[in-house]
Amino acid sequence: FLTFFCLLFSFFVYFCAGAEHESVLCCSEENLRIIVPLEDIDTQEKSTVSFSCKVNRLNATLKWLKAGEEVSFSKFVVYRVDKHKHTLTVKDCTLADEGEYTAVAGDSKSTAELVISEAPTDFSVHLKDQTITEFEDAEFTCKLTKEKANVKWYRNGREIREGPRYSIICTLRIKECRPDDECEYACGVDEKRSRARLFVEGELLQVLLYDIEEPKLDVDSSYSNNVVVMAGEVFKLEANVTGRPIPSLVWTKEEKELEDTAKIEIKSSDFHTTLINKDSLRRDGGAFTLTASNPGGFAKFTFNVKVLDRPGPPDSLTVTDVTAEKCVLNWLHPTHDGGAKIEYFIIQRRETSRLTRFK
Ligand SMILES: *[C@@H]1O[C@H](CO)[C@@H](O)[C@H](O)[C@H]1NC(C)=O
Ligand SMILES: *[C@@H]1O[C@H](CO)[C@@H](O)[C@H](O)[C@H]1NC(C)=O
Repeated sequence: FLTFFCLLFSFFVYFCAGAEHESVLCCSEENLRIIVPLEDIDTQEKSTVSFSCKVNRLNATLKWLKAGEEVSFSKFVVYRVDKHKHTLTVKDCTLADEGEYTAVAGDSKSTAELVISEAPTDFSVHLKDQTITEFEDAEFTCKLTKEKANVKWYRNGREIREGPRYSIICTLRIKECRPDDECEYACGVDEKRSRARLFVEGELLQVLLYDIEEPKLDVDSSYSNNVVVMAGEVFKLEANVTGRPIPSLVWTKEEKELEDTAKIEIKSSDFHTTLINKDSLRRDGGAFTLTASNPGGFAKFTFNVKVLDRPGPPDSLTVTDVTAEKCVLNWLHPTHDGGAKIEYFIIQRRETSRLTRFK
């Protein structure tokens, strides 16, 4: 019996050691409590911030309070659990989100403050917060309004030197992100700085308190036919998007991802996207595919656009077998048909000595 007990005991110890993770013990009968507290956050309007804490047990659900009142979750206030780590994310902060936030785990509590300052208006650089998955590379790009500015990068306030994990030009690239890369990054020109936070999510992310909803695209029925415009005109493609979490949207043409440029304007918000092509040329036509994806799946829609224009000249004209009475002409279809099927060609002839033509 003693042997059996010893075996059982050592098996239990082994099980505990095996389940130990991130230096947090899982098997103790301890009360649920917070072992890594929340930290204060100082940010600017319109940024996204996250309060995180760790608890001593898996599968716990915490209560979140703001100024003593229970937080209600929404599209802008999201609660996530990744193993022991509990995160409350406040997206697109407004001054009203400022205050004291508390995480409650059983009898234990942790409180931190969110301080929001107004976004400066005359700023020459602007960084955006981003969330990536562990081991991906993160990239911050500063858009400068001044040329040849002396740009410096900061991580949690300390200047970053270029090294094996950081490559810097106007873009800060952080290779193979780990959870401890999750912090504030800033880009500075002279005395001004723009700050953004990087969020690194573990791959086994458990999303709590909302159901996953597959993306859906709602497109006006007129787009089921070809979109036909004349050369020089503008065409606009648009769709409404639904899904939870908010789907990411990609526009592609001939397998290439399209970007917002002077020629093609792409504007996407959480639930809507538009693509506007200005001053259309024949070659701007084609199949434009919109893909919306989230962890629940993806949805696709293809818009077919025709830009009507004059066809190009016939290709590779050759003249052979020339005699006094006849000759043989050979040619190929033009490269550009102008957006419609070519039905016939016109051949004209004139005497070398005259200016008028005969058909
Ligand atoms: C956590 O919950 C999941 C799903 O409910 C369950 O499969 C798993 O065994 C739980 N883990 C622990 C340590 O309780
Ligand atoms: C897209 O959403 C807008 C605003 O909610 C609505 O007016 C419009 O009819 C929607 N379009 C389609 C194609 O669903």
